[in-house]
Amino acid sequence: MDAAREMLREAAAVACLTGAGVSAESGVPTFREAQTGLWARFDPERLASPQGFAADPGLVWRWYMERLTGVEKALPNRGHLALAQMGQRWPGFRLITQNVDDLHERAGCADVIHLHGRIAHFHCNRCGTVYRLQAEDRRASQPPRCAACGGAVRPSVVWFGEGLPTDALAAATDAVIHCDLLLVVGTSGLVYPAAGLPATAKRAGSRVIEINPEPGPLSPLADICLRGPSGEMLPQLLGT
Ligand code: OAD
Repeated sequence: MDAAREMLREAAAVACLTGAGVSAESGVPTFREAQTGLWARFDPERLASPQGFAADPGLVWRWYMERLTGVEKALPNRGHLALAQMGQRWPGFRLITQNVDDLHERAGCADVIHLHGRIAHFHCNRCGTVYRLQAEDRRASQPPRCAACGGAVRPSVVWFGEGLPTDALAAATDAVIHCDLLLVVGTSGLVYPAAGLPATAKRAGSRVIEINPEPGPLSPLADICLRGPSGEMLPQLLGT
């Protein structure tokens, strides 16, 4: 931890890539953990894909309403709050997340780069018109219909087989190329192109600190691995 704190102190430009692990201590399930992960209990192809939505829009809609309720009940944890403090101490700090929850924003982070969209945002699956969720939609058994074209409304998250928002991916790539320290927090490093960002940072000369209780495919890239929960490691890293 001392070497990591020194590396952070020496950094001129810091960026951070987070995954579901940063929200785990807030009670938001991750995706791939054997017992608690979302994918351990559900088939992602059936629930988080255009094919799954076309086959059973009601099932997918109800699943996302349940996940949205869980996110809204969750509170930012000490890891989210520590990252928000970094934004105040490093003016050029850039936060990139794979998460679709808004816990970074609720902790006080600004300009969060959401690579995989946001679960509380919605748009028409046919014409793309942005949709504002109504109270009655939360209990509905089917997705609402678009007022402009009658298409089904969906959450504005990236589904399997879909591309990432080009502006978000460009901003994330720019952030990791121009940082000299990248924190990689709470991600299994299995889903590309997000998982390719740490290698891009290394090629550009950045150092990498991984924060994760478990080793993973990104660990060999890291200059330092802090093996513990981000809710404990990030405050310690900041000395808060
Ligand atoms: P995963 O569920 O794949 O991985 C969660 C990671 O968090 C694992 O490496 C855990 O070891 C780690 N972890 C668990 N608890 C932690 C804690 N308290 N502190 C720090 N780390 C902890 O989630 P992601 O890597 O985010 O994509 O998954 C990437 C993408 O795969 C998601 O964005 C989603 C999914 O398909 C889309 O929805 C497009």
